[in-house]
This record gives sequence, structure tokens and C-alpha cells, in this order.
Amino acid sequence: MQTHKSKILKAVEAHGTPSYVYDGEQLVHNYHNLVNALPDCVDVFYALKVNPNVSLVKLLRSEGACTEVCSVTEMEIALKAGSTPQDIVYLGPCKKDYELKRAIELGVFAIVIESETELYRVSKFAEAAGKVVEVAIRINPDFSAKGSPWKMGGRPTQFGIDEKHAVKNFGSYLKVPHVHIKGIHVYNGTNILDAQSVYENSKYILGLYEQISEKYQVTFSMVDVGGGMGIPYFPNQVALDIDEFRSLMVPLFSDFHKKYPNTRIIMESGRFIIGTAGYFGVTVNNIKVNHGKTFVVTDGGTNCHSASAGAGRVVKRNFPMENISSDSEKTKEYQVAGPLCSPDDIIGRNMMLKETREGDVLVISGSGAYGPSSSPGLFHSHGFPAEVLVYQDKVHLIRKRDTSASIISQQVEVDFSKEVVLQ
Ligand SMILES: Cc1ncc(COP(=O)(O)O)c(C=O)c1O
Repeated sequence: MQTHKSKILKAVEAHGTPSYVYDGEQLVHNYHNLVNALPDCVDVFYALKVNPNVSLVKLLRSEGACTEVCSVTEMEIALKAGSTPQDIVYLGPCKKDYELKRAIELGVFAIVIESETELYRVSKFAEAAGKVVEVAIRINPDFSAKGSPWKMGGRPTQFGIDEKHAVKNFGSYLKVPHVHIKGIHVYNGTNILDAQSVYENSKYILGLYEQISEKYQVTFSMVDVGGGMGIPYFPNQVALDIDEFRSLMVPLFSDFHKKYPNTRIIMESGRFIIGTAGYFGVTVNNIKVNHGKTFVVTDGGTNCHSASAGAGRVVKRNFPMENISSDSEKTKEYQVAGPLCSPDDIIGRNMMLKETREGDVLVISGSGAYGPSSSPGLFHSHGFPAEVLVYQDKVHLIRKRDTSASIISQQVEVDFSKEVVLQ
């Protein structure tokens, strides 16, 4: 069994830095850790927004994961990775016409409707396609998940339809032609480390499902309770207690399933499944002392991994980082910077690391979620880093590092000598 360090070293040796390195065994373990903490009546949908690499999705799919997608590209990746349309839910606050048409053509398990306008648009496209389209209504509840640093529900957001409004008007949604409303969807927050909070959130959503189905005397066939299960990034955080999670969730969902045996229960998860399976590796390019602080300048920074620099967080704290090249017994405090001409390009502030030299490889753990897909990879035209999967003792390049040629090829050079002047 290789340690994560030897896996990262192998990947970096083969493909250089900056690179994201994924530990395939850890990914599979995390997925089953979640699945095993839920009863069989719950299906886990992997959220591609968290990390959409086709090889990672394929590995998860081969272990049984379904997929949640938020764009037509994520939909195509899910299909390429082996997902069937019946194991795809499609959501997001701005679905373009061509995206909706593709989802309708495929017949995904549910298009999750985020507004009343969208319901009518889907109805119109369904009519044109000569189909009855399966949809779920996303509700923004009057309940907010405790312990989530990013809340998508329980407060004003661009997601879903307000609970009171939705409950009052659900009868009119049920009358919209060419769509079949198969259930409800709620996604309230992310990175929740408290099992009780996920439980209370799920319980509230199941209650909402019951309330609406009883009020309108309708039998639904799905409920998507979101999820938001988190991972610890900082020393003061404690990992989600999976045993407590299991002891709360198993009876909750099992009781619901006894009452509604034909309702597919969906939990969405991204961070919990892939977060701890990913590492971000950079090489130290130069070290210098500036105004009394020692700066370690690396070949990948916030352009590759904005989450580690605290993008979206009020309090900036360091993700765990280690120097995997150094054997030094001594530690020193460093400011770890990236390659950008921006003073904010710092991925480790006052970071204690083993004594570091130029050429050393530094690794940030907990990097599998919201890494490249939520980073400004094109800043300074450095491009996106390579991505490498180490699985069953093999090193697989799963995304090529951008090159000057690949970045420039996307730009269109105007030949001004041929411009036609419009009157
Ligand atoms: C609707 C929806 N589903 C799933 C996710 C994935 O969340 P997580 O990474 O917390 O599992 C998100 C994250 O924002 C989301 O908005």
C-alpha cells in the first residue's frame, strides 16, 4: 500500500508541477464511506461542479455513483463517464435553451426547476419535443442548515422558489402541461461538519415533501434532500462523525421509505467524496526575504487553487500544507506565494514548513473539491495545471496542463487590414 506521499511524488515525477494529484483508493473509500452510512433506499448523486474530470467521474460511476450536473458540459461528461440519463439530475439557476433541449432529448431523471418561468419554458420545449418531461421543483425553504459557511437556502438567494410561495402555488404547477412533477429538491448549504445539522436539514425537507403531497393529494416519486457533508480544512475543525451520521440518517430515511416505498431518495455530495482524495503540488521557484518575511514563491498559486487562498471566505486560513521533499528536522515560517503579480496570490500565510529549498515540492491536502474548476486558471495566461490520478499503482494523466499553444489557440486574432468599416 503506497502512502499518499509516495503517490504524489510518483505523479509529480511523471508530470511535473503545478499538478492536482488524486488518490483513487481514497476516492473510492470516501464514496463507500458515505454510501455505507446511508440505507439502501438512498441514492448518492456525485455533484460534478465540485470536480468534473471524466476519469474521476468514471471511477465513481464504476462504484455505483449517480450524477448531479449543472451545465450541458457536465451532462456530457456524466454520459461519457458511463452514467445513464436515468441517473442524472440537472439543476442550476440559469439553464440555457440548448441545455434544456439536450436534457429533454436525453430524458434525464429530473430537470430541477428553479423558478416558475423555467417551468413554463420547460413545458414549451417539452411540447415542441412531443414529450412529457420529468421535473422536480427546487424549493428555497424557510429553514437554514446550521454550521454551513455557504448557505444556498434559508435566505435570499437566486436558487429555487420560496417555500411559502411554492407550497401555496404547487397546485398550479401540477396543472402545467407537458411536464410531470415527480418531486421536490432542496439544497441548503455546503461543508457541514455536524451530523445533527445534516439530519435536521434532511428531516425538514422530508417534512416539506409530506406537507405538499398531502395538501395536493399527489404521489411523488422523488425527493432530493441535497446534502452538504463537509471535510475539515483547519486545525480547529473536527471531521464529520460518520457513525453519528449513520445512526441519525438510517432510521430517518428508512422510516420515510416505509411510508413512501416508490419515492427515490437522493442525496447530493461532492466535497465529502472527493475533497480528501485530492492534493495540489507545486514546486518552489525561489525563496527571498522581503521586509522581514521569508517568501517561498511557487509555480502554482491562487490561479490554480483559489479555494486554498480563502476565496469566498471572510477569514483567510491556511489549508494543510507540507514540504514532501525536505528531510530537514527544522521548521521555519514562510509566506507561500504563487506566480501572479498580485499581493493576494498567497496560498500559505505564516506557514510553518520543514526548512525549504528551491526545487522542493510543496503539497496542499484537502484539494480535491472546488480546485481547478473554481480557479481563475487563465490569469497571467499561466493556464490550468495538470491533473493526475494514481490508482492501483498506476499513474494516469487525466488532464493535460495548458500550454502557451493551447491557450493562444482559443484566441482569435483579427486581421485589421481586412476589416470592413460599417457605416
Ligand atoms: C445544488 C448543489 N448540489 C450539490 C452541491 C455540492 O455540494 P458539496 O460539495 O457540499 O457536497 C452544491 C454545492 O454548492 C450545490 O449547490
